[in-house]
Amino acid sequence: MSEKEHKVSRRQFLTYTLTGVGGFMAAGMLMPMARFALDPALEAGMDSDFVRVASLDELTEEPQRFDFTIEQEDAWYTSEVTRVAWIFLNDSNEVVALSPVCTHLGCTVDWEGSENYPENFFCPCHGGRFERDGQNIQGTPPTRPLDVYEVQVDGDDVYLGGTVQR
Ligand code: FES
Repeated sequence: MSEKEHKVSRRQFLTYTLTGVGGFMAAGMLMPMARFALDPALEAGMDSDFVRVASLDELTEEPQRFDFTIEQEDAWYTSEVTRVAWIFLNDSNEVVALSPVCTHLGCTVDWEGSENYPENFFCPCHGGRFERDGQNIQGTPPTRPLDVYEVQVDGDDVYLGGTVQR
C-alpha cells in the first residue's frame, strides 16, 4: 500500500470529527428522552401489588362485598381507583375473592342481587347468574366464570392482588 492511500484529507478529518461529536451529542439528548418515554412500559407488575382488604375474622362462607382502593399508574399519572371484591371462605376454609365484573358485557354483579335467585350472583343487565364460587350458570348470558383476585393471607390480614381469568 502506498502512503497516499492512508492519507486523510482535511475535509475528511472534519467530516469524521463533526459526525462523531454530533452523534455523541445527539445520543446524549435522545437517551434521557427515550428512557422517559419507555420507563412506565418497562416497569413490571404494577397491577400485581397486593393491598390489605380485610381481616380473616370478618370472613364467612357467605360472600361479602369489600371496597378497597389501589394506586393506579397510567404512564406518568398516578391516581386512586376503587375496586370491589366479593370475598368468602370456601368449603376448604380458603379465602376466595371474586371480581364483581360480569363476564358477559361487564356490568356489576351482586350476591343475591335478585330475590328470585338466592345463593347466586346476579347481573341486572341481562339476567346473568353465577354460583357462589363464581361459576357461570348455563342458560344465562355469561359464558365463563367470574375472574378471581390473587389472594395472600398474612396472619389475620387478607391481601388482594390483580385479577385472574379462569
Ligand atoms: S352484562 Fe351481565 S348478563 Fe350481560
